[in-house]
Order: sequence, then C-alpha cells, then structure tokens
Amino acid sequence: MKTQKIGIILNGVTGRMGTNQHLIRSILAIVKQGGIKVSDDLVLMPDPILTGRNENKLRDLAERTGVERFSTNLEKALADDRNQVFFDASSTLLRAKFVEMAVKAKKAVYCEKPTAVTTAEALRLAKLCEDAGLKNGVVQDKLWLPGLRKFQMIKAQGFFGDILSVRGEFGYWVFTGDHPDQPAQRPSWNYRKEDGGGIIIDMLCHWRYVIDNLFGNVKAVSCLGATHIPTRRDESGKPYQATADDSAYATFELDNGVVCHFNSSWNVRVRRDDLLTMQVDGTKGSAVVGLRKCLVQPMAATPKPVWNPDIDSPIDFFGGWQEVPDAGAYDNAFKIQWELFLRHVALDEPFPYTLREGAKGVQLAEKGIESWEQRRWVDIPAL
Ligand SMILES: NC(=O)c1ccc[n+]([C@@H]2O[C@H](COP(=O)([O-])OP(=O)(O)OC[C@H]3O[C@@H](n4cnc5c(N)ncnc54)[C@H](O)[C@@H]3O)[C@@H](O)[C@H]2O)c1
Repeated sequence: MKTQKIGIILNGVTGRMGTNQHLIRSILAIVKQGGIKVSDDLVLMPDPILTGRNENKLRDLAERTGVERFSTNLEKALADDRNQVFFDASSTLLRAKFVEMAVKAKKAVYCEKPTAVTTAEALRLAKLCEDAGLKNGVVQDKLWLPGLRKFQMIKAQGFFGDILSVRGEFGYWVFTGDHPDQPAQRPSWNYRKEDGGGIIIDMLCHWRYVIDNLFGNVKAVSCLGATHIPTRRDESGKPYQATADDSAYATFELDNGVVCHFNSSWNVRVRRDDLLTMQVDGTKGSAVVGLRKCLVQPMAATPKPVWNPDIDSPIDFFGGWQEVPDAGAYDNAFKIQWELFLRHVALDEPFPYTLREGAKGVQLAEKGIESWEQRRWVDIPAL
C-alpha cells in the first residue's frame, strides 16, 4: 500500500471554523481514520501546517491537537513544495490577499465562504485560479448534512410530486454580551459591516448553493434586511455599534416556478425542530428538512383541519409526520467535502464546488442587499 502525503496549509486556523470544523473534525479526523483509501494500493494522507499571525495561539493549537508543523510565515509555507493545498478560514475581507499569494505559489486553493463581499471580487478570485490552471473550491458544507441528503433521496424517489414552495427558517438567539454570564457566542466582526459582517452576506451564500442544488435555479430575489439590535459587546466586553444587518427576510423566485422564502436571524428564539428547518410542500407530499432529520407527511396521511379557535385543535399537527430513517452512518459534512477536494487534487476527480460557484453565492447576497436598499425585486443574471 502506497501512502501519498498531501501538504495542506490551514490559514486562519485558530478561528472558530478553522479549529473545529476544518482542523479537528475534518483533517485530523481523516488522519485518524488512516487517510483516504482511494484504491487497494493508494492512501491519501493529509499533512497539515497551521498558519496565522499569532505564534502563541498557533503553538497552543498545535500542541493541543498534536500537529507538528505551524508557522507565522505564510510566504515560507507557500514556498515549500511539500504543501500542495492552501486553505483559508481567516476573515472574509482578507481572503483576496491570501488567495492571490496562493495563486502566485501555484497551490490548489480551497476557501471558506463567502469568498468576497462583492461579486466582482469573488469572480476575480475564481478567474485568477482558472487562468493559472489551479484546482479550486469553496466550502458548501450544508449539502452533506444528513437531513439534506435524506431530502435529496426522497426527492429522487418522486416523493413530492411537483414541489411548490420552500419555507426556510434559520437562526437562534445570539447574546449581546450585556450580561457577563451570557457572553456573545459569535465573533463581533459578524455584526460590523466594515469587517465583512452581516447576515445577508453570511447566509445568502449558503442559501444559493442549497437552493441551486436542491430546488432549482434562482431567478430573482426580494430581500428585507434589518439591524434589530444596534449595540453589542465585543470579545473584551466593550460596547460597539452593530453596523451590519442581523436579520434578513428573503424571497427567491426559481426558474421552475418554485417559491422559496428564507428567514435568517440572530435575534430569534428557537421553537422548531432545528436551527435550520426547510418545509418543502409538494403536490404529493411535504417534508420538514432539518440539519440531521427529515420528517415527511404524504398526501394519504394529510389531515383536513377545520378553522375553529373556540376549541383546542382536535388534530395533533406535530404528530402527523414520520421520520425518514438513517440510511447508514453520516460523516461530518465538512470532512466529506474535504475528502472530495483532496481526491480532486490528487486524482483529478470532478469537484463542481468551485470558486466560480462560490461567486454565485456572493452574487445572491449582493443582489439581496440591492433589493433591500432599493425596496424592489432584483433579477439574478447567470454568471
Ligand atoms: N461554512 C460555514 O458554515 C461557516 C460558518 C461560520 C463562518 N464561516 C466563514 O469562515 C470564516 C471565519 O469565520 P469564523 O467564524 O471562524 O471567524 P473567527 O473570527 O473565529 O476566525 C477568523 C480567524 O482568522 C484569523 N486571522 C485574522 N487576521 C488574520 C491574518 N492576517 N492572518 C491569518 N489569520 C488571520 C483570526 O485570528 C481568527 O483566528 C469567515 O469567512 C466566515 O464567513 C463559515
């Protein structure tokens, strides 16, 4: 059995996403399982190097996770031929600078979303990689969540008949940090536009690939944003002005006539099955798709409610749904995408989740903001 090592630069890895999803749950999980066995005689083995600005933080993380290589010198890591892949999970506004450096060093480029805050910039980065003939990709993790995979399965089996509409509800309460016992659980830059924050740019790039892959091509958007909570406290407890939108109420019209409406909010308390639920109604049946579960109600089991607020409902509306059982074990969604990307790099296998696809997500967010500012429907041109 031959083991092919793939050096991977993990940049901005001491952050929330870099550490938990990408280093620990993806790259180190792949190492722990013995690499990616791609044939009877070949295993791909990630060989990570942690990069960032703060040497102490990098050393702590390296020691905690048993990673041998770390550096504050990104130029040097990029110049090292061992490293074939550059991955960026630093903050959004720094992405362009780091991608440019990686392209110059001829590395395969993989990035967190959003790749930029304007479509022009996201497309420029995609084109830089394409023109240099470099493999590239963007994180589209939600596609491999068990709930969404179950949805794809029953849709392919014809469960829905014609899909009519989708109601997406995403969000939870993010504490303002005003009370020391309830510190904010998301980074403060998320609430500052000047630092690349805002729920529209954050979430509409997810909704773009989710809708494109599950429901159909997005034709137009109508979006209302809001900054419901104007001041919050940062990581050091200091009050700051929330300059970015913290909630978005967006409707998407698809080419195939399906209407999708997604509410996204960091100011909402959860009384639903999961942090993200999508109710999909079709002519033959409906489903409520969560992160892990998918509940279904076929036409034959659809109750006939009668409006009568003078009595308690005789129908248990939550009871009339059945859960799609697990089809097997479901691996971490980020890890599955990493394995696909590494196979793409080493074996040239297809990988459709490119920076150009990522630019479509940025485009939907940009058009959503335009719709909000101009208070009108905005068409989404093909990219
Ligand atoms: N796929 C998803 O579901 C998902 C979820 C949350 C965030 N994200 C994206 O991931 C990225 C990181 O978000 P986060 O929540 O982890 O934020 P974070 O603030 O926790 O992490 C950002 C990291 O970048 C580092 N950094 C800042 N400047 C740097 C520099 N000059 N050089 C190297 N590193 C630098 C910071 O020290 C920090 O470790 C963002 O682009 C965000 O949009 C994706």
